Amino acid sequence: MNDNAAVHSVHEFVFSVPELAPARQFYTSFGLDVRREDGGLGLYTAGRAERWAHVLPGTRKRLLWLVLGIYERDVDAFVRRLAALDIERIAPPAGATADGIWVRSPDGLPVCLKVAAKCSPTDKAPRSFPPAASTIGRAPQRSKVQQVRPRHLSHVLLFTKDVGASLRFYTEALGLRLSDRSGDIIAFLHSPHGSDHHLVAFAKSDDYGLHHSSWDVGSFDEVGLGARQMAQAGYRDGWGVGRHVLGSNYFRYVRDPWGSYAEYSFDIDHIPAGTVWPAADYPAEDSLYVWGPDLPDDFVRNYEA
Ligand SMILES: [Fe+2]
Repeated sequence: MNDNAAVHSVHEFVFSVPELAPARQFYTSFGLDVRREDGGLGLYTAGRAERWAHVLPGTRKRLLWLVLGIYERDVDAFVRRLAALDIERIAPPAGATADGIWVRSPDGLPVCLKVAAKCSPTDKAPRSFPPAASTIGRAPQRSKVQQVRPRHLSHVLLFTKDVGASLRFYTEALGLRLSDRSGDIIAFLHSPHGSDHHLVAFAKSDDYGLHHSSWDVGSFDEVGLGARQMAQAGYRDGWGVGRHVLGSNYFRYVRDPWGSYAEYSFDIDHIPAGTVWPAADYPAEDSLYVWGPDLPDDFVRNYEA
């Protein structure tokens, strides 16, 4: 019996939008590889095989389900633990192709535990620019700027009706660990198998939903260049550039066509496997940022609710 069974990755997040064309335009401009497949759009990052997200046509933008990666050796332990916690297994939702253990989160969101290779970072993602030893040429040349291409999905931030209930479910049933929280407003979870400071986070709302997906880039410059890239493509709204307290990453959130966000993230804290992270409850003023522009009034509004 393996009592340490734990989710290791966000394998794929799946949401619907009323029209696929604006989604293709938005994520292509953001620097992702967008492929038409399986009745929707697959979101990929350059040089990686994982399909991080699947965007399906629907009546509105709506988070549909979440597929979380687990190790094969943990399957039996998960089955026993879910039964012991009286968590009912469900049939996959219509249109879902992922094989695995399907359950519902306390909010009612379908969640699949799927045996898959670990795709969350096991080590801290390296800085790509500038080289540590360089003393000249430490700013990119404007004439040579190329499209910002995120390297991998870092995390998703989900709305939840009850941060405490979601925390219990994702830690006690799924094995994730609390990184940090700010009361019952927001909470960040990492994997004990090694992940960024958060691979899933929760913010309080009236319903579940997808607040943002966050994409790792290789330098602080790429956060700013990404903001400029998206502004030039017509996506001027958002928040940042700034720096978070919890997770420490530099950010630029770009508002998508449905009122949620895609985030360029650089230098997020990494929590290696085996680390005992000193989880803390931070005051509300630390929950969002240390510096940056004022927060947009509706930044944490759930347009899916
Ligand atoms: Fe984020």
